[in-house]
Amino acid sequence: VPLSLLGTTTGRSLAARASDALFLRACRRETVERTPAWIMRQAGRYLPEYRALRERHDFLTFCRTPELAAELTLQPIRRYPLDAAILFSDILIPLPGMGVEVAFEPGPKLERTTRTRSAILELRTPDAREAAPYVGEAVRLVQRELGGRVPLIGFAGAPFTLASYLVEGGGSKNFEHTKALFYDDPETADLLLGKCADAVASSLRAQLEAGVDAVMLFDSWAGILPPAAVRRFALPFARRAFENALAAVGYEVPRIYYAGQAAGWLEDARDSGAQVVGVDWRVDLDEAQRRLGPDVVVQGNLDPCVLLAPLDEVRRRAQALVRSADPRLGHVFNLGHGILPGTPPEAVAVLLDAVREASQRRVP
Ligand code: CP3
Repeated sequence: VPLSLLGTTTGRSLAARASDALFLRACRRETVERTPAWIMRQAGRYLPEYRALRERHDFLTFCRTPELAAELTLQPIRRYPLDAAILFSDILIPLPGMGVEVAFEPGPKLERTTRTRSAILELRTPDAREAAPYVGEAVRLVQRELGGRVPLIGFAGAPFTLASYLVEGGGSKNFEHTKALFYDDPETADLLLGKCADAVASSLRAQLEAGVDAVMLFDSWAGILPPAAVRRFALPFARRAFENALAAVGYEVPRIYYAGQAAGWLEDARDSGAQVVGVDWRVDLDEAQRRLGPDVVVQGNLDPCVLLAPLDEVRRRAQALVRSADPRLGHVFNLGHGILPGTPPEAVAVLLDAVREASQRRVP
């Protein structure tokens, strides 16, 4: 890997250089010359260069080795004209620091479940700079390579989504243990969510101090809850994590909240405190813009399966999506969820070209 360690540049000076990037201006609701685009899980198995490295290292080694995490962050940036980079890591990376080991086989498997009050009381909330120092080092390496040309997004799981993995001990279809805890014993759920919010805030803070230009919380599973429970258990803790992280560093960067399956509570996603809300394909883009209102930028929301279609269909559907957006309201192009491993790499090139073409033509 052609990257050396040593990151002495501070986060703020790099953030200042990237601050006029298209993506960051769009997040701030400034007028932009075209729609910025990036792709959730843009580094990953659909890329042959990812699979080549993956033959030699497992996924956790990727996340824990700054030079490898930096190289993987940059792979899609070298290949495509993306408007943002996202740090290569995972939402479950803070868990070992909280006292729960994680394996990927390939889906995530936690060493134990955390669903009793005593198990929750035992969870630690360490300083992420000490518990996972490799994350900040990866950020510094990426920022040195990017040199302000492309902004870098740091991220964490939102407290509710992180808590659901702790309670279930891995992925889940029905999340019945999570829901049982949250419905039967809301006070203990609050205790768990509070600890998750502290761990998430510490992770975002560490990434900010190392120099990320924007922060994103993934609430991929919030939508499994009824809307009233999202308002009670998901959104306030996401807001708390954002606010504590940004208060700790003392400056503002765009906050992005990915709201999975949010059609039943979209307006409420504003209570996450984010200026950018990511939505999936289960809601129309213009409806999402309308419901979120003029102060929020919508990020999304092409169905990742479209990329498996013939290339002229990819182009057509991407252009139709971009044109369906209300140009007076904000839009950052993305997929509605992570890119699928079976996606042909050429489809991504066609997609990004189509988004550029369709959005450039609309500028008044
Ligand atoms: O977006 C990016 O390119 C940055 C990297 C990133 C990964 N995971 C890498 C990854 C990000 C932002 C995530 C977020 C993440 N991780 C979420 C939230 C977004 C979402 O998809 O809803 C969630 C729920 C996870 C948890 C997770 N990690 C699961 C369920 C899995 C297994 C399923 C899968 O796709 O293999 C992972 C593993 C994972 N995270 C991989 C990558 C590239 C695959 C690892 C491999 O086998 O090479």
